Amino acid sequence: MTDRAAVPPGVRRAFAILTGIATLFVFVQFFTSGEFIGTHGAAAESWKAVHGVTAYGLLVPALLAAVLAVVALRRAAPVLTGVAVALLVAAVGQTATGELISRAHLDSLTPVHVVLAAVVLSLAVWASMRSATLRRG
Ligand code: HEM
Repeated sequence: MTDRAAVPPGVRRAFAILTGIATLFVFVQFFTSGEFIGTHGAAAESWKAVHGVTAYGLLVPALLAAVLAVVALRRAAPVLTGVAVALLVAAVGQTATGELISRAHLDSLTPVHVVLAAVVLSLAVWASMRSATLRRG
């Protein structure tokens, strides 16, 4: 249930942009992981480092979108707010499992990291598409 008219256009626009950027960076993460999985050497290490940095391209907009949703969309779009918060939680979990694999060598977390990536992607695409509908009506 969404009460579009109750949300100022600037908030709708900002939320759509933030979820769009988050979604774009999820795709970047899939791309960069494909460059280091199953390979070794300097190039693989460089791609891992890139993968670690571009994780923030997902984390930062997901955080801002969740805060914006809780502050300004909670009443008008409760489901979308829930999805935005779930995306933030999943993105934090995704980054944490990635760091644990890389730094603590907890390779057993790799299946969790890969499956959680699918969850992150689903939530990001859902939030992005709904935010576009909320923006344009
Ligand atoms: C969805 C968003 C994703 C985020 C936010 C994310 C985040 C991270 C981070 C922060 C690291 C640590 C990198 C470092 O500093 O060395 C990492 C490692 C890793 N990620 Fe991701 N990741 C994502 C998606 C994926 C996907 C789609 C795959 C593969 C299908 C993947 C596979 C891996 C693997 C295998 C490692 C461990 C690399 C190593 O051996 O050290 N990640 N991830």
